[in-house]
Amino acid sequence: MPTLLKRLQRVTPQQLRAFESTARLRSVTRAAQELHVSQPTVSIQLREIALAVGEPLFETVGRQLRLTQAGEAMQDAANEITGCWQRFETRMAEVHGLLRGRLRIAAVTTAEYFVPDLLGPFAAAHPGVDIELTVENRDRVVDRLQRSRDDLSVMMLPPDELPLDTFPFLDNPLVVIAAADHPLAGKRLTLSRLAKARWLMREPGSGTRMAAEQHFARVGFEPHIAMSLGSNEAIKHAVSAGLGLAVVSRLAVADIVDTPSPARGPQLVQLKVSGFPIRRQWLLVWRRDQPMSAAAKRFVSYLRESRPSRASLAH
Ligand code: PGA
Repeated sequence: MPTLLKRLQRVTPQQLRAFESTARLRSVTRAAQELHVSQPTVSIQLREIALAVGEPLFETVGRQLRLTQAGEAMQDAANEITGCWQRFETRMAEVHGLLRGRLRIAAVTTAEYFVPDLLGPFAAAHPGVDIELTVENRDRVVDRLQRSRDDLSVMMLPPDELPLDTFPFLDNPLVVIAAADHPLAGKRLTLSRLAKARWLMREPGSGTRMAAEQHFARVGFEPHIAMSLGSNEAIKHAVSAGLGLAVVSRLAVADIVDTPSPARGPQLVQLKVSGFPIRRQWLLVWRRDQPMSAAAKRFVSYLRESRPSRASLAH
């Protein structure tokens, strides 16, 4: 004989509905009318549910139908099950409410290489959500956070002075890149071997620059900064043209090669420098002191569920 739980799990929604109506209306005839089925149908459903429970759920006293003790317990359970579906219905309404939602995301410039790949499946699953993506360097994204301009931000170094919640969702190794024909390419190096090298840095206000400077300061290395450039693309072009070395996010360079081939034009290699890659993470960031929009909540859970990896993104 299957256990009570196993038998209850076979109770169908129709049987439960027949029971719930009958218990509430205290009449099989009225329950049948309410459910638009015949009276024998309701009687069969009630018999099956009583069989599952293993004892009668109703008794007739005089001409009145009453719940037995087991019937009362079943009525509570049926109400709970109905409540559970109603809560689910509310949640679904919220989900569909997204159809008219707007999601404003600010991403630091380096995140532009993968944020569109994260947004793609989300946008496809929520066609009614208008997504506004702003791409700025770290300083400007922090400024927007201060003024609560966005629902969510993507960055690696959130500011300490704001009340923020963060969710780390992807690792962000920062690597040293050089032109593919660099004489030190392929060799194991310490930073001190690169003391005379020319370094190309991102502009002040860039998070990549900040992370590189923090690392250099921690290990007591003073780079010779030959140039500041305002974007990752400008850095990559300048490095591949042999103007110097740079620290960039591995996600910003799709085109790093292991074995340079001169026939393929300017290329980049990753130098094997001890202490690198600098291990950082990409964080989804939002203001803890501001209400979160339904669209933003949905995006956070989407990211929690999808757990993106570097391999799953374009670069
Ligand atoms: P950025 O991005 O260098 O493009 O500002 C890095 C960051 O702030 O996370």
